[in-house]
Amino acid sequence: MNENKRPETMERITTPELAQAFIDQEVQAVRDQVKDGKVLLALSGGVDSSVVAALLIKAIGRNLVCVHVNHGFLRKGEPEQVIQVFQKELGANLIYVDASDRFIDKVANVSDPEQKRHIIGEEFIKVFDEEAQKLSGIHFLGQGTIYPDILESEKGIKAHHNVGGLPSNMDMELVEPVKLLYKDEVRVVGKQLGLPESMVERQPFPGPGLAVRTPGAITRDRLEAVRESDAILREEFAKAGLAGKVWQYFTIVPDFRTTGIVNGERSFAWPAVIRAVNTRDAMTATIEEVPYEVLRKITERITHEVPGVNRVLFDLTPKPTGTIEWE
Ligand code: XMP
Repeated sequence: MNENKRPETMERITTPELAQAFIDQEVQAVRDQVKDGKVLLALSGGVDSSVVAALLIKAIGRNLVCVHVNHGFLRKGEPEQVIQVFQKELGANLIYVDASDRFIDKVANVSDPEQKRHIIGEEFIKVFDEEAQKLSGIHFLGQGTIYPDILESEKGIKAHHNVGGLPSNMDMELVEPVKLLYKDEVRVVGKQLGLPESMVERQPFPGPGLAVRTPGAITRDRLEAVRESDAILREEFAKAGLAGKVWQYFTIVPDFRTTGIVNGERSFAWPAVIRAVNTRDAMTATIEEVPYEVLRKITERITHEVPGVNRVLFDLTPKPTGTIEWE
């Protein structure tokens, strides 16, 4: 039997009961696989790695070692939530690495988008690898691979590698408990494992994070403007009941300034751009028609609360011609 193929008889996990049956089965399967061995897991805080972490904690407790690398391009409150949920509430064996300075320094003068992505990806593997080398006697690597990843890899659409590859010099066996599940099933399982709604229903977030929403060469102040404006956007979308409805929404702070007036004085500052899109598979996307009143409120808050921003724009471009992210 091909263990990377979902059996045709496998029922779609849509209810808490089916999720619980899946959890019980996988907890046993993981225990049978790793016995009293240790499993290393890169925990990004995204849906897939979070659900795998919660499942593995249930199966093997502190024999799971989670590493959460903060590359400095995470959204406001994200590292704090990972620490709160996994370390404080679920009692995980969690190593938190704040590598933000290191990443920001690495991309400081890089304006080419592809080069930026490449540097961040490489540095991520390096940091994770360094942490892995400090630990000894770990023979298993947990991964949040899900079924669409396997299907896309098989069709040659995308080469999926969740961490970027196995840590070098380490011969590790993979533990991938949700690899036969679709995303909606992963969410049902996550809820059944007791993960908070905000984690399980999270919108997609690119690996290089806010770095691709700070176009051009990143500076700390412009990165903070992206982080703060994004937090305001998320807050206001939640208040307006749009959070569960819109597929992906975020802000971008481009690298140019325009004249304005702030507190009665001339300002020369960046715009923040709102992007809010709907899609089925991220290959094409349409624009959410956000009510004007919500946009007005967001504009007022961003221009008054975010240092360095004096103007708010709305990106009307569907995909194609624009990609969802700006870089
Ligand atoms: P684009 O910009 O290509 O984005 O239209 C399509 C979807 O993919 C997300 N995205 C990424 N996800 N790593 C990821 O895991 C990445 O490097 C990455 N780049 C873009 C993007 O947020 C959108 O949902």
